[in-house]
Amino acid sequence: MHTVDATQTPAWSQLAELCQSFDPDLRNWFASNPDRVTAMTFTAGDLHVDLSKNLTTPAIMNALVDLASQMDLIGRRDAMFAGERVNRTENRSVLHTALRRPRGDQLMVGGADVVAEVHQVLDSVYEFARQVRSGKWVGATGRRIHTVVNIGIGGSDLGPAMVYEALKPYVQPGLTCRFVSNIDPSDLAEKTQDLDPETTLFIVASKTFTTLETLTNARLARQWLWDGLLAKGAIGDSESSRAGAVARHFVAVSTALDKVEAFGIDPANSFGFWDWVGGRYSVDSAVGTVLAVGIGPENFAHFLDGMHQIDQHFRSEPLHRNVPVLMGLLGVWYRNFLNYTSHAVLPYAQPLHRFAAYLQQLTMESNGKRVQADGRPVTCDTGEIYWGEPGTNGQHAFYQLLHQGTQVVPADFIAVARPTYPLKDGTVDVHELFLANFLAQTKALAFGKTEAEVRAEGTEEELVPHRTFPGNRPTTSIMAPALTPAVVGQLIALYEHITFVQGVIWGIDSFDQWGVELGKKLALEIAPALSGDQAALAAQDASTQALISYYRQARG
Ligand code: F6P
Repeated sequence: MHTVDATQTPAWSQLAELCQSFDPDLRNWFASNPDRVTAMTFTAGDLHVDLSKNLTTPAIMNALVDLASQMDLIGRRDAMFAGERVNRTENRSVLHTALRRPRGDQLMVGGADVVAEVHQVLDSVYEFARQVRSGKWVGATGRRIHTVVNIGIGGSDLGPAMVYEALKPYVQPGLTCRFVSNIDPSDLAEKTQDLDPETTLFIVASKTFTTLETLTNARLARQWLWDGLLAKGAIGDSESSRAGAVARHFVAVSTALDKVEAFGIDPANSFGFWDWVGGRYSVDSAVGTVLAVGIGPENFAHFLDGMHQIDQHFRSEPLHRNVPVLMGLLGVWYRNFLNYTSHAVLPYAQPLHRFAAYLQQLTMESNGKRVQADGRPVTCDTGEIYWGEPGTNGQHAFYQLLHQGTQVVPADFIAVARPTYPLKDGTVDVHELFLANFLAQTKALAFGKTEAEVRAEGTEEELVPHRTFPGNRPTTSIMAPALTPAVVGQLIALYEHITFVQGVIWGIDSFDQWGVELGKKLALEIAPALSGDQAALAAQDASTQALISYYRQARG
């Protein structure tokens, strides 16, 4: 199938023309247009999104929306929601949006109602979660579970780990969840060293159930469990005791339930999902089992409802009022016309401290592509580099570059009105101090400080250039009432759809990830060389050989 090339559309030419004469001036735009903020502020679910401090004009926004139309964004969006095989290189449907459709909805794909299947799995996840939370589910020695350790990586880790941190106040007292992802043995070792095997339950989450890191960690965890229980005299030294321990302390989440069984986990303790859920889009599938246990089925259901609300917004709002569409298109304007390469996400909400890491996989694994979906090379740059840290920590680290560096970094600021912990410092509401920083930063970035203003403060002449702020640094401000499960779901779905919009404009397959394969294969080839296999060593390039020699000497 031949796709339209965005750079060949009339809207692209118009944007290129607008870009040539573009002279951003937020001060003047705000002064001359009292309606700018109202016109550029939108609501999506509980999210209040102010786009007014972006470097854009009505003419640019109109051209961007035209670009979306000319790239058939609506048709592509509807095809995704309908279950068409929009992941072309893997010939798969892309239906993470079906994971949050309400019970009773129907979506027939390949003769099956996928919404009914989703709710069947959700029911079993919720039943399991209730058993663990109530203490009905006990370990091999009859004790209730206090710690749930999720073993997974990429999409089988980042989503659940991020949401767990974001929603910690919702976690049932007495229950703790931990996340092991890295094949660096220190990850598993450190996360288990203070745990009691009798009260620990592992969830092995892997879509494919072939991922080296996850399966290695799962085996290490199984050994840790057996060793620990054996040392306590809690189980006997027999095959059947070991199998019994695994049955009470291991469950799995995967699309490959046959492989789960081969690993030794009872299929009755497995939760499935489907190949139409991409790993980085899977936090709302059974991959969220750890969350359902931690925050409870009711809160997990609110989280799913939040995502669904944004899906509805994305599906039904006209393009010029559609928040993920507008945010995605602004990213295209910045990436392709103004040549800004990175995109910061700066939550003024400490519990969202893993949000940027989560978004890195979502956006960069999705849109870091150099060929179009039909295999032709792309004709424009793709993919924004996402990064970020919570405010105010970032202010004391990298904001210097944001304010006065030579590169412009568009940034999304996220804050909530109601704090989780309404603490006071004397009479001062600390959350208000926090929000004052959020507002101060977006204001300083947008409007800067002119040389004249710096001089008027009596600044020594030689310091004037240092103390001047150029302004016109674009930001989006996202506010929500509170960091609830629904709001966290809404934030995730918002960025999922932003990613989709950009993928459509760039004509790429946002749902495959072939770029991760080569390194995985090479690691398997190199591993024997590290252990002394001379033939494997000889097959390596000179630098790799030298590094392996260093390792073998230094390891001793
Ligand atoms: O290597 C990348 C990747 O395939 C991601 O897309 C995925 O989220 C991660 O590995 C983990 O995969 P799995 O859930 O199959 O273990």
